[in-house]
Amino acid sequence: MTYTNSNPLRSPESSTKQISFGVEDPVRDFIGRKDKLKELDGLIEDGMHSAVVISGLGGMGKSELVRKYLLQNKSNVSICHWVNGESAETLRSSFEQFAAYLNVPTTDKQNDKPLQLYYTVNSILNQVKENINLLDKRKYIIVIDNVDDLYDDFIKVTKQLCSYSRSIVIITSRRLFLLEGQSEFMELSEWTKEDAVEYVNQRLNSQQQMDSDVDLLCSTLLCDPLALSQAVAYIRHQKQVSFEGPSYSIRHYLAEYECKGEYLLNKALQVSTQEH
Ligand SMILES: Nc1ncnc2c1ncn2[C@@H]1O[C@H](COP(=O)(O)OP(=O)(O)OP(=O)(O)O)[C@@H](O)[C@H]1O
Ligand SMILES: [Mg+2]
Repeated sequence: MTYTNSNPLRSPESSTKQISFGVEDPVRDFIGRKDKLKELDGLIEDGMHSAVVISGLGGMGKSELVRKYLLQNKSNVSICHWVNGESAETLRSSFEQFAAYLNVPTTDKQNDKPLQLYYTVNSILNQVKENINLLDKRKYIIVIDNVDDLYDDFIKVTKQLCSYSRSIVIITSRRLFLLEGQSEFMELSEWTKEDAVEYVNQRLNSQQQMDSDVDLLCSTLLCDPLALSQAVAYIRHQKQVSFEGPSYSIRHYLAEYECKGEYLLNKALQVSTQEH
C-alpha cells in the first residue's frame, strides 16, 4: 500500500467526496436483505447508541450486509474506515494503517516507540474533528469486523470512538449479546427461501434448472448464504471441467453432496475463492 505525504482529510475534495479506507464493495451478485438493510439504517439513524452490533453465525452475510449498506449510503458518509477486529493485534494494525494514511504519527517522537492504541485513535479523532466542516452533516463510520471475542482494547476503542458525536461504530460478530445494553443490536440469520431461490436462479441461469431442483438445493443447504454461494460456484465450475460438461446440474451436485457433503463444501470453497 502506498501513502501520500498529504493528509486526505485536508484535500479540497474531502468536503464532497468520501474518504474510504479498507472498505470493499459487496459481492456483485448481492441479493435480498432489504428488510435487514432497512433495519440497520433505522438503528444507525434513530438508535440510542452510536454502536451497532450485527450478530450471526459464520457465513450468514454480516460483512456483505455492511458493505452493501455502505455502498447504498455513500452520500451520507464522509469517512469510512474498515477495521479487522479479530484480535487486539489486528485492531491495532488496522488503526495504525489508517493513521499512516492520514499522515498521523503512530510512534512516539521522543523514543520512536509505537504509540499506545489509545493515542493513535485519539490523534485520528482529532484529525477528523479538525478537518470536518461543521456544516457537513455526513457521518464518520468505523466498521469493526469479526469481533468474535470480547477483549479490552476493543471495548476501550469502541467507547473512545463513540464519544465523538459524528461517529457510528458498526461491529460484526458471531457472538450474541456482545456489548449488551451499550449498543444497538440486530441478528442476521439464513436467507428467506425466496432470496435463496432467487440467488441460485440468478447464478445458474434459471432456464436451465428445474424449479423443484433449485428448491431442493436451497432446503438441503438450509438457505445458508455461504454454503449456497459455494455450491453454485462448484456447479458452475463442474459445467466447465466435468465429464458431464454444461449439462452438469443441481441433481448431479445433490447426488455428490449426499455421498461426500463436507468434502464437497471444502472443495467448493477453493473454487469460489478462485472465482472472486
Ligand atoms: N446478500 C448476499 N448476496 C449474495 N451473496 C451473499 C450475500 N450474503 C452473503 N453472501 C455470500 O456468502 C459469503 C459469506 O458472507 P460474509 O462473509 O458476509 O459472512 P459473515 O457472516 O461475515 O461470515 P463470518 O462470520 O465468517 O465473517 C459471501 O462471500 C458471499 O459469497
Ligand atoms: Mg464477516
